[in-house]
This record gives sequence, C-alpha cells and structure tokens, in this order.
Amino acid sequence: MDTVIVPPIKCQGIKTKIVPFIKQTVKMDPEGTWIEPFLGSGVVLFNVAPKKAIVSDKNSYIIALYRGIQQGEITPVVVRDFLEYHGERLSKGGADYWKEVRNEFNQNKDPLYFLFLNRSDFNGMIRFNRKGEFNVPFCRKPDRFAKAYVTKICNQVAKVSEIIKDKDWEFSNCDWQTTIKKATQKDYVYLDPPYIGRDTSYVGEWPQSEADELADLAHSTEANVCLSMWKENEFRFNDHLKDKWSDFTWLEQEHFYHIGAKESNRHPMIEVLAVKRI
Ligand SMILES: C[S@@+](CC[C@H](N)C(=O)[O-])C[C@H]1O[C@@H](n2cnc3c(N)ncnc32)[C@H](O)[C@@H]1O
Repeated sequence: MDTVIVPPIKCQGIKTKIVPFIKQTVKMDPEGTWIEPFLGSGVVLFNVAPKKAIVSDKNSYIIALYRGIQQGEITPVVVRDFLEYHGERLSKGGADYWKEVRNEFNQNKDPLYFLFLNRSDFNGMIRFNRKGEFNVPFCRKPDRFAKAYVTKICNQVAKVSEIIKDKDWEFSNCDWQTTIKKATQKDYVYLDPPYIGRDTSYVGEWPQSEADELADLAHSTEANVCLSMWKENEFRFNDHLKDKWSDFTWLEQEHFYHIGAKESNRHPMIEVLAVKRI
C-alpha cells in the first residue's frame, strides 16, 4: 500500500487514517478539478494529488501557509530557522514564552507563528475565541522543538512543496458556498465539514442550518460529490446523515478514536463516505 503523506498542520477531524479509503473511493475525471471547501490540514488534497484543484478554508492561516509554500516564500529552510529560533527560547522560557508567541500571533497573524503554535499546543487543536484570537493552551513541553521534531516538520513542508510545485492548485480563504459554486459537471467535490453534535470549535460554529444548506448545495451541483461523515458510535446514530444524505451511496469504515492511554478508552466510530449516485 502507498504510504500516506502527512502534512505539517494538525487539526480536529484530520483524515490521515482514512486517506487510503478515500483514495480508493474517489473516481475523478483526470481533466476535472478537485474542489475541497473544508481543506483543514490538506491531508486529503496532498494524497489524492489531482492535477487541478480549487481548495479553501475559513481558517486564513492554513491557507496563507500553503500559499506561502506554493509561492516558494515558506521553504523547509525558513521553517527550520523559525522553529529553531523560537524552540530554543521556548526551552528556556517555558509556558510564559509560549504565551508570548501566542499573543504575538494574535497581533501579527503570521502563518509561521500559526505553525509553531499548532505543533506545540494541546493535542494539535485549532480553536479561536469570539474575538478571533487563537486560544488553545500549551502542550506543556518546553523541549517540544527538539532537533528530531523540527526535522520531521521540515520534511513535511518539503514533501508538500514537492507535491504542489507542478500542480494547478488555487488556495482561497473563503466560505464553502463560494467554492462549491465553482464546480462544473466534470469536477469532483470532496466535503469534510465540521461534525454536527461533536467538537465544532474550529473557526466559528457549524449550525444545523449550515449543515442542511450544504446538503442542498451538494445535491444541486452538477459535479460528483463525496462527503465524509460519522455514521454511528456505541451511543448514537447521526440522524442528519439519514435525513439529508440517504440517496447517496454510503461506504463505511470503522475508525478508533483514542481518548487516554487505556484500551477501555478506545471508542469505535463508523465513518461514512457518502458518494453521489450519478
Ligand atoms: C473536519 S475539518 C476538515 C479536515 C480535513 N479534511 C483534514 O483531513 O484535515 C473542517 C474544516 O472546515 C473549516 N470550516 C469550518 N467552518 C467553515 C465555513 N463556514 N466555511 C469554510 N470552512 C469552514 C474548518 O476551519 C476546518 O478546517
């Protein structure tokens, strides 16, 4: 099996584990455009690696980071220098220094600061408060940016720049409606919205009305569509999937979420790829 390309950004709901399943499922016209309005870490885009793509996210820092890589402004060397410089100060200053970097980021909005925070915060989470300030706490490891970890992140940046360089990819910071509306009949739309009823603290919120509007637009676009969504766990069934997506073909895969170290804390979750029948 192909190895999965792991991106430099982490986020809630990252699809690294089900990328092989997604790649197997997607059947796209080689002349068509890959449309992905909830890009997140970019792990699906980088692994599907289509020739043409229009991708977007409401999170402007993710988009700025990948644009910077695409334009050759953010390189593995630039990332290494940045992480080594701030990593060394973090190992001396600990949590106080980390908060200084977070405050600085909330002023300067620099994607390199975002990368630093994302790779040293609690669980690689992304969350902003109502004022738009990043507010995830520190992972509490002052030696987080040890040499091997910095090298790992730089290698991830190098891999992404290698994949991006010969592609016709457009990265935008916009809402999902704008991106889906660009899809034409030969295109392929991959949807991975925030989950209803689970953690929705990405940027802003994901209300039921938006989830319903997404289902309507996915049905009315002429393009093929594949949606990632959870179907059920041991406690509940996702009624939204049944109510709004039952005419799509559901392909299922079991996925384990680890909460804590104990075996008993492994919670199975059935993930669905719902594909339009065209
Ligand atoms: C489940 S995550 C996508 C994860 C991604 N597939 C991955 O594997 O990394 C959902 C993404 O939708 C973005 N998002 C949330 N609300 C949005 C909105 N209204 N418009 C556009 N993007 C939005 C979030 O910033 C987040 O990156």
